[in-house]
Amino acid sequence: MITNTEIAKIGNQYPNHIVDFKHENDKIFFTTQNGVILEITILRDSAIRLRYATEHVFEPDFSYAISDDVSLGYNSLTVKEEIPEYVITTSKIKVYVNKSNLKIQIEDMDDVILSEDELGFHWEENYDYGGNIVKMSKVCHSGESYYGMGDKASHTNLKGKRVNNWVTDSYAYGKDQEPLYKAIPFYIGLKENIAYGVFFDNSFSTYFDFANEKRNVTSFWADGGEMNYYFFYGPEMKQVVEAYTDLTGVPELPPLWALGFHQSKWSYYPEKRVKEIAATFRKLQIPCDAIYLDIDYMEGFRCFTWNNRHFPNPKKMIAELEEDGFKTVTMIDPGIKIDREYWVYQQAMDNGFFCRRADGPHFKGKVWPGECKFPDFTNPEVREWWGGLYKEMISDMGVKGVWNDMNEPAVMEVPTKTANLDVRHDYDGHPCSHRKAHNIYGMQMVRATYDGVKKYMFPLRPFVLTRAAYSGTQRYCATWTGDNVATWEHLWIANVQMQRMCMSGYSFVGSDIGGFAEQPNGELFARWMQLAIFHPFCRVHSSGDHGDQEPWSFGEEITDIVKSYIELRYQLLPYIYTLFYKYIKNGMPMIQSLVFYDQEDTQTHFRTDEFLFGEHFLVCPVQEPNAQGRRMYFPKGKWYNFWNDEVTEGGFEKWVPAELDRIPLFVKEGAMVPKYPVQQYVGEKEIEELQIDVYYKEGIENSSVYEDQQDGYDYKKGRYSLRKFRLRGKENELIIQQFKDGNFITPYEKIRMTFHGLPFKIGTIELDNEIVDFKEIKLNGDNTVEVSKDFTELHIIGK
Ligand code: GLC
Repeated sequence: MITNTEIAKIGNQYPNHIVDFKHENDKIFFTTQNGVILEITILRDSAIRLRYATEHVFEPDFSYAISDDVSLGYNSLTVKEEIPEYVITTSKIKVYVNKSNLKIQIEDMDDVILSEDELGFHWEENYDYGGNIVKMSKVCHSGESYYGMGDKASHTNLKGKRVNNWVTDSYAYGKDQEPLYKAIPFYIGLKENIAYGVFFDNSFSTYFDFANEKRNVTSFWADGGEMNYYFFYGPEMKQVVEAYTDLTGVPELPPLWALGFHQSKWSYYPEKRVKEIAATFRKLQIPCDAIYLDIDYMEGFRCFTWNNRHFPNPKKMIAELEEDGFKTVTMIDPGIKIDREYWVYQQAMDNGFFCRRADGPHFKGKVWPGECKFPDFTNPEVREWWGGLYKEMISDMGVKGVWNDMNEPAVMEVPTKTANLDVRHDYDGHPCSHRKAHNIYGMQMVRATYDGVKKYMFPLRPFVLTRAAYSGTQRYCATWTGDNVATWEHLWIANVQMQRMCMSGYSFVGSDIGGFAEQPNGELFARWMQLAIFHPFCRVHSSGDHGDQEPWSFGEEITDIVKSYIELRYQLLPYIYTLFYKYIKNGMPMIQSLVFYDQEDTQTHFRTDEFLFGEHFLVCPVQEPNAQGRRMYFPKGKWYNFWNDEVTEGGFEKWVPAELDRIPLFVKEGAMVPKYPVQQYVGEKEIEELQIDVYYKEGIENSSVYEDQQDGYDYKKGRYSLRKFRLRGKENELIIQQFKDGNFITPYEKIRMTFHGLPFKIGTIELDNEIVDFKEIKLNGDNTVEVSKDFTELHIIGK
């Protein structure tokens, strides 16, 4: 028998020389003398997949990450055999495959090396579990930077870090703590200002070392499975993120209310308390669209039950909240209480839906209700059943959104915090252990939830939220960053996590505003809210055992500040909705780090605090107590101060004043920012007029506004309205052209434009080539005009 020591001696193994080569359509296969096969698939001219097998055999090809709607097809592909290597050429990249060792080098058409194998693919046999520990190492060139990787609480630029992807319940995590709640094994590399991406689609525990262990080596490896990665060529970061997002998918549009403000706590109960909270929002006129019920609404933490003492008539309560403009969102966890009298438990037992250990017994673990068993969500039949469990909650009770938590799965009182590694999973017909299924377990739970909620919400849109995620989970639901802490450091963390998640294909994301653990003071709460209204998912949530965390919990001054920011969020809803539309249409992240905005400016490569919210807002949170302002970097372009219209030229760092009621907030020149009136909840008011703030620019800038019914699926049949504006400013005139797409008729008739920074006084106004009387177009003061929403050209000429 081979001993452990002997295995250890075998250590790393490497491919040797190529003995066979095959080219079949979009796939090219190389086989080495020692049985390694490299399969390269050309997805597009700028996107390829590299997959390695040892011992001549590939595992069945299956991944939960990949979307059904991937764009495929390339313009050109040639494969040539040359002396030391094979050369694969598309219209965008060249891939060299070395004949003697299977090492890869990828170059762009200007011969810039973007990816160069150091040791390249190698592996170690796994004595304990069988299979291989698969490894890849690449040369890290000096000046190379790395971004992405999901929810890591580290500097946006990952150079010098080592990270691990193993979804973990990380209560009160700290800066740089690893691993966290999500596994998104995707990074963007930036070399000589050219961006490329790597997605290592492997659901086992994966590790990435970005020049941490060795200054000039970047490597990634996994505890099992295959070396299976995608390479995306930019050259712009935008193209890399778009390609990754195209591969792993995007969600459908959420209902517009889901982009409003949400209030949560662990837990609001009984019913009277829930109603008090709702009533206070309305009394103080602080906008809010959703109220959350955490685990205490259940009977003994049994999912899909109600505690009748606290909630004697949930259906009535939910309906009353709804009348007042509040959607109710309820929590559902994966652990099912072991209780022979409990119908969910019985059904799962009767049907064999619970996960089993290696030798057959059910896997048991402690969560809120005590000992639980866990459905195997990797079994399609289980997912179908799970989706069906939401029928009563959604169709009958009127719940409008579901929040899946603890789906790592989190298990209490065990050192691993999760299921045993020998737990078995169906993995959609590819049976395996928890080592392989762990990272996708929560994703499959929330997928089942999404399918069920969607079915019962129809014809309206579902809203689902998850804590655990693997690449591709963005197709189903929003996510939040888990149990953070009410500290200034966590405000910093929230900011980098949101940028990182958005640039990792997952835009519908937010943090627990104010912090989950511990109690923020008013100042921290206000500063956090100022940042979080610029996060796609905007929710206050707290553990509730440290005092209240509602917008009015910190005295009048803070209440007023917080209220004004939530109001700003509601005014910006058409802007935010348009960002969401662009995200699902083109994979454009809703939030972008400065490096994404201008990768050629090396100043941006190590910035963490400033970010772009969509194309037109530059935001920089205040992350310290007692600040009256802060220094920040302005990237290229000209930026209007949102608060006073002062213009700053980019390319410099500057001190910006920001008293407690101000966040440094800037608008890009030329932007046309759409706004709705403040509403207490989405749909409270019929929108009578679209307000657009126009920021003058000498030159051209494009903006757009996407609108539809704010819910339902008619938008998929063309019932949407997309207004595209082209602004062209000259010394003494401003021309705005509108191009319209879609056949949704917006409820308002007029667009009201307010001009910022006009360098001239308005003399003449021409609308669709006709001079119009000021009376007709309502010129208020000298900077606001009201025009028919269907204009095609507005021409403003100075006096
Ligand atoms: C977990 C969640 C938190 C929730 C709590 C109770 O800690 O992350 O958001 O409030 O469980 O359900």
